[in-house]
Amino acid sequence: MSNCNKLGIGLAGFGTVGSGVWNTLEKNGELISDRTAKGVSLGITKILVRDLAKTRATTSAVPPEILTTDWRALVNDPAVDIVVELIGGTTDAFEIVVAALLAKKPVVTGNKALLAERGIELFAISRKMETPIFFEAAIAGGIPIVKTVQDSFIGNHIHSFTGIINGTSNYILEQMTLRGIDYATALQEAQELGYAEADPALDVNGWDAAHKAILLATLAYGFPIDPAKVHVSGIEQVRPTDIQFAKSLGYVIKLLAIVRERDGGAVELRVQPSFISQKHILASVHGVFNAVSVNADAAGESLFYGRGAGQGPTSSSVVADLVEAARDLAHTARHRGFLPYRETGTLVPIEETTTAYYVRFDVTDRPGVVAEIATVLANHRIGISGTHSPIDASNPDAEFVDMVFLLHSCPFGKLTAALAEIEALDCINSQPVVFRIENLG
Ligand code: NAP
Ligand code: HSE
Repeated sequence: MSNCNKLGIGLAGFGTVGSGVWNTLEKNGELISDRTAKGVSLGITKILVRDLAKTRATTSAVPPEILTTDWRALVNDPAVDIVVELIGGTTDAFEIVVAALLAKKPVVTGNKALLAERGIELFAISRKMETPIFFEAAIAGGIPIVKTVQDSFIGNHIHSFTGIINGTSNYILEQMTLRGIDYATALQEAQELGYAEADPALDVNGWDAAHKAILLATLAYGFPIDPAKVHVSGIEQVRPTDIQFAKSLGYVIKLLAIVRERDGGAVELRVQPSFISQKHILASVHGVFNAVSVNADAAGESLFYGRGAGQGPTSSSVVADLVEAARDLAHTARHRGFLPYRETGTLVPIEETTTAYYVRFDVTDRPGVVAEIATVLANHRIGISGTHSPIDASNPDAEFVDMVFLLHSCPFGKLTAALAEIEALDCINSQPVVFRIENLG
């Protein structure tokens, strides 16, 4: 360590979040120093980028000599005491984090993809090197949910998390609903606002939320989770017709992450666009906001709400971790993160999860179509609570129409089997689109 109270930060990544960390430390550095018992002062001594020539939107000029494109120069710099990884991805970021830990430099990261895919390896090195990894920014942006689960709920069995934990998709769904804009325009806005991942496919295909759900589940249930076993679907299939139909039935569509421990200890973990009642509190989570509802045995139900993405909220979480890392260095070292206290656990197979459903079929409009679909559903003992075929006023004689079925609760495996048969019918033109109707109580 260069000096107990003055600590050097190596900032790997200087995009939306990295430059937010620069700005926050500049604005609130003195306040942070006043608030820490021994006056810890944090200074950025090295910054890793890809493009040295890029103009940086920071509130003060960045000395060009502290910029580098060589991550080894950053990690190995003796003036760097703490490494902040904000480049994203799972390759270079992995190497940087490993090298920092091996050099006994604490790591702060907001990289949920890295931790969900390779966290078990990284936290094993962290424990071996007695050097911590902090990751508050990896789940739900500015909401302090990681420390809440690790510290505040440590005396609880956690029954479930139900959350909206991707700001980009929540923003897109809402803009499509309120302004009637199309999906591509809404996504572009989310990118311009700094909400989306460098690869925005992760936001819209559900995987960013799934990475965060995996981290929550690992923190709560203490066993490694294989991402390949998690059921994930995103918002790409949500059409304006689904949004309108949901509204007319008293629902809104939200990308929900559900992590729930069953009796016996198996864990249900899934991310899907879901119909939830307009009256449920999660229906009021707008724009880039996230919310995580935690149900724990002693504490009962708690709801955490705040901005889930963007420069300010995310850098707030990174800076909080930096201060904790600095306090650790200045006082006693701790190592946290995933502390696997059991080798294995069981995930509930998605086929065994049960909800009601909204299913949209693309059908050839001819007499008997509803009966054909209904017969297959009846053969599988799946109840129908309603059917609807939105009329396209501009084309009332259309040959192909959307036909919506609302189905009673049944295991997903049963529904999948019925849909496989229905898809083979002559009148069905493409794969049915399924959304869950969640009864959140
Ligand atoms: P970003 O705006 O795309 O910035 C990435 C930065 O990393 C850029 O400065 C880029 O350099 C640099 N970089 C990327 N790959 C590199 C490489 N191989 N070598 C050297 N430099 C490299 O990303 P961001 O939005 O700040 O996100 C950063 C991390 O925070 C990601 O893990 C993301 O998941 C996480 N996160 C983001 C948010 C959010 O709201 N944006 C919220 C929570 C967590 P150039 O500038 O030269 O291109
Ligand atoms: N792209 C992410 C989101 C950033 O939109 O939620 C925060 O993790």
